[in-house]
Amino acid sequence: MDVAPFGRGPAGPAAGRVFHRLRLRAQEETTAQVAGCYPFVAERGFHADGAYIGRDRYTRGAFRYDPFALYRAGELPNPNVGIFGTIGSGKSSLIKTMAIRLLAFGVRFVVPADTKGEMVPMARAVGATVVSLGPGMGTALNPLWAPPKPDRMPDRTYIELVEQQRLLLLTALGATASGRALTAREETGIELALAQLTRGADRIGPARMRQPTLAEFADLLLNPTPAMAAAVPIPLPVLAGDCLDLGLRFRAMIKGSLKGVFDGDTVNVDWTRPGVVIDISRIRASDAGVALTMTCGQALVDQILTFTDHQWLRILDECWRQIRYPHIVRRISEGQKLARGDDVTTGSATIISLHRISDLAGADPDVRDLALGLLADCSTRILYNQADDQIPTTRTALHLTDMEADLLPKLPQATALWKIGQRSFLVDHTVLKDGHEWHLIQTDSRMGTTPTHGQPDKPGDLGADATPADSGEGVA
Ligand SMILES: Nc1ncnc2c1ncn2[C@@H]1O[C@H](COP(=O)(O)OP(=O)(O)OP(=O)(O)O)[C@@H](O)[C@H]1O
Ligand SMILES: [Mg+2]
Repeated sequence: MDVAPFGRGPAGPAAGRVFHRLRLRAQEETTAQVAGCYPFVAERGFHADGAYIGRDRYTRGAFRYDPFALYRAGELPNPNVGIFGTIGSGKSSLIKTMAIRLLAFGVRFVVPADTKGEMVPMARAVGATVVSLGPGMGTALNPLWAPPKPDRMPDRTYIELVEQQRLLLLTALGATASGRALTAREETGIELALAQLTRGADRIGPARMRQPTLAEFADLLLNPTPAMAAAVPIPLPVLAGDCLDLGLRFRAMIKGSLKGVFDGDTVNVDWTRPGVVIDISRIRASDAGVALTMTCGQALVDQILTFTDHQWLRILDECWRQIRYPHIVRRISEGQKLARGDDVTTGSATIISLHRISDLAGADPDVRDLALGLLADCSTRILYNQADDQIPTTRTALHLTDMEADLLPKLPQATALWKIGQRSFLVDHTVLKDGHEWHLIQTDSRMGTTPTHGQPDKPGDLGADATPADSGEGVA
């Protein structure tokens, strides 16, 4: 390159063009000032493989996401996702479209407790299994249901796994129904009744274990047999006394306000389909009733992860309801930690969605630390609009920059700040207006209004030209 004063420039059409060396005085600033002096630092954009989510506001490029692909590529320490945003900000819409779009990548979804029933249309649209529970629905989620034995699994392993899961579930149900941890005597009672119901050699089919009803189980707790007492051994009247309270609790689950939910026409959950949704929107019995049903839903997820080889999104929308129950928080946390799968379970990504981060602190005091830890185990955090009073907490919990914290209260509906590992992106979630996903995300219809929540005063407030809810842009 010719540089003045000696150069004469290149030959040819550009002849005579001479470059001058740029001479600037060195500028010294503190790091805080430099951010203002040199504002042209921008993310290079996110170029991972995955399902199309929408548009990156700053690069204007397509934003794609697949937690499993990112995990495999070593970009994320875990595939779990946390979504936070005010009412109507677009959390459920994102979850639904993510579940649908990731199906093309071989990722299936399971919703263990759909408290609003809003995942049902989405599930039906893609041919997923829907189990609707509630009084008069005619379907029961039997806690003693056993899935068919997978071909690859040895008989002994299958039996042990089913027995272990039943024991865990019945203990969790007993504890939830009693509102306290079970005593050793009660736990023994459960174990004995279960053994009595299932262990006889003639009772185990070659491809599937026998599936007793919850009524049979409750009956055995209320009337233990001499064989059960001899197995410990303890006198029969002592065993009967120990199990009485628990037996009555299980009986209440069958005869009380949850009649038909756990005992009745047992539904055969078909998890060979693209997804499974347990709709509990009709269960309004009581907090305990909801907790019991959620516990069964969680156990079903464990079975799915144990007996299939697919990758699953475990969707916990409206998670604030679930974190009120200590043992459910424990299960969610365990699920997050087992995301990579182990020698028994397959891989899963847990998606939790809450209105605000401070909801996690609203968990039962026994498990508050565990609930707050749910955030630490999500390496993707998606932040929709947040109220002003939530900004300090959110900022501290997620180590947001000033710019990011200022942005949150201004975010319009369907636009979110994605924190993926250490990187940040401002993303408009795109859903094709009147396309096949459009009617599945509409949750404002019951309010009889057009969504206007959180729109910035004028387009461009966030540095882009249109809000996605206005634009209804195309989707891949
Ligand atoms: N990407 C989008 N494009 C267009 N409209 C959207 C988009 N996302 C959400 N909406 C609109 O916003 C409304 C509310 O969205 P959504 O139900 O997902 O909110 P939410 O955050 O789950 O609210 P809640 O906390 O009450 O569950 C939807 O009815 C839909 O009309
Ligand atoms: Mg929602």
